[in-house]
Amino acid sequence: MDFTKMIEEAIFARNNRTYTPYSNFKVGACVMMEDGSLYSGGNIENSSYGATNCAERTAIFKAISEGKKKIKAIAIVADQEDVFPCGICRQVIREFSDDAEIIIASSINKYEIYTINDLLPNSFTNKNMGVKKDV
Ligand code: THU
Repeated sequence: MDFTKMIEEAIFARNNRTYTPYSNFKVGACVMMEDGSLYSGGNIENSSYGATNCAERTAIFKAISEGKKKIKAIAIVADQEDVFPCGICRQVIREFSDDAEIIIASSINKYEIYTINDLLPNSFTNKNMGVKKDV
């Protein structure tokens, strides 16, 4: 798969769509949903630090709130190399994918590909709750 557009959008989000007055640590993400649509976003901080929303969740929640269901891939770009999604974001990615690809990018041409099962093995899902309907 060609991840160029996703990484470009993640870089744009990192540069233009974060709210990071506290850490100044800027992260951008771009998620591709199963129909090929792209949604991007940046991290949004809060004076009550725990209310901060990571870039990954901003992008994912935009997609889900527009009616999209499944994540195919997500690209993540920060100011430094090798920034991996936090534990909460891994759990959120897992909620909306069976095995999404996670693109850890430093530039258009420099990235590594993982899957959510690489990053969150033996995960807790709705299957563990006996949820029958396709949520
Ligand atoms: N952050 C993200 O947006 N994504 C990550 O993958 C790691 C951390 C944000 C949260 C906070 O605004 C800042 O980076 C420092 O933790």
